[in-house]
Amino acid sequence: MAVKLFEGKDHAAAYLQYRVAPDELISRIMSFMETRTNHFKLAVDVGCGSGQGTILLAPHFAKVVGTDISKAQLEMAQVNSNPPNVSYRHCPAEELPFASGEVDLVTAMTAAHWFDRQKFLLEADRVLRPGGCLALLSYTMDMELEFGDVSDTLNDICKEFYAALLPFRDPYIGSSSRQIYLNMLESCSYQDKEWNECFRVKNTLPLSSYIGMVQTFSSFEKLRKKDPAEAERLSDDIRNKLLSAMKASSPETEVTVVVKYFYWLASKP
Ligand SMILES: C[S@@+](CC[C@H](N)C(=O)[O-])C[C@H]1O[C@@H](n2cnc3c(N)ncnc32)[C@H](O)[C@@H]1O
Repeated sequence: MAVKLFEGKDHAAAYLQYRVAPDELISRIMSFMETRTNHFKLAVDVGCGSGQGTILLAPHFAKVVGTDISKAQLEMAQVNSNPPNVSYRHCPAEELPFASGEVDLVTAMTAAHWFDRQKFLLEADRVLRPGGCLALLSYTMDMELEFGDVSDTLNDICKEFYAALLPFRDPYIGSSSRQIYLNMLESCSYQDKEWNECFRVKNTLPLSSYIGMVQTFSSFEKLRKKDPAEAERLSDDIRNKLLSAMKASSPETEVTVVVKYFYWLASKP
């Protein structure tokens, strides 16, 4: 089953505004690859969305192709300024438009949990050349906040937010996307593979942007569709509790948002 999401342009725009670009993770992927291959012709970023991760691959490969099932996302990717070696294709993750053994790196950034995971792993294996690499990364929903000496209090409030959204997570994803990625790693038949836990990426953002990030979660979208008033009440309530704990009045007050990434890397024999 391939799941479609982020079809709406507004949602795509919101996601683009708040997404954390994982450039440090790209360096880690490249270090892994460089010790295993000297082929850097073609990288394919599957479920590329607005292409924020895709363009980070451009300096390392002769050609980079971002693929996505959502036309709205690809439209956003195409209007961004793209390096000349980056292009985009509209296709499902499970049917990639590449010849067998043609691709040096397949990535999926915060996307593979939505794919038909077994079909995608088979398809990635088909398109990868021997020695080519597969890199899947994502982050946990429980982003943390840091602000002066009230970080613990803020995180208790954030936990309330995440707990309220938990019942609205898509059943295809369940309560833990980390577990999905662990299961995918286990299903990957390659011997040369590694799991990397909890890589913390910090960004300083206005509190309103943190709230905006959580509002782009598919669980929040689902709540908003079901009960718009409750979705608004919940995010207003959390915003006010956070502001009160911070002893601040403006939602534009800056906080440090910590996103906890995990990723796995594997090399095709
Ligand atoms: C959370 S977004 C991540 C986008 C981008 N990789 C990033 O890190 O900003 C997930 C993306 O996966 C895409 N997607 C979901 N299911 C897909 C499928 N079966 N085939 C291809 N793309 C898919 C969605 O359209 C969306 O753009």
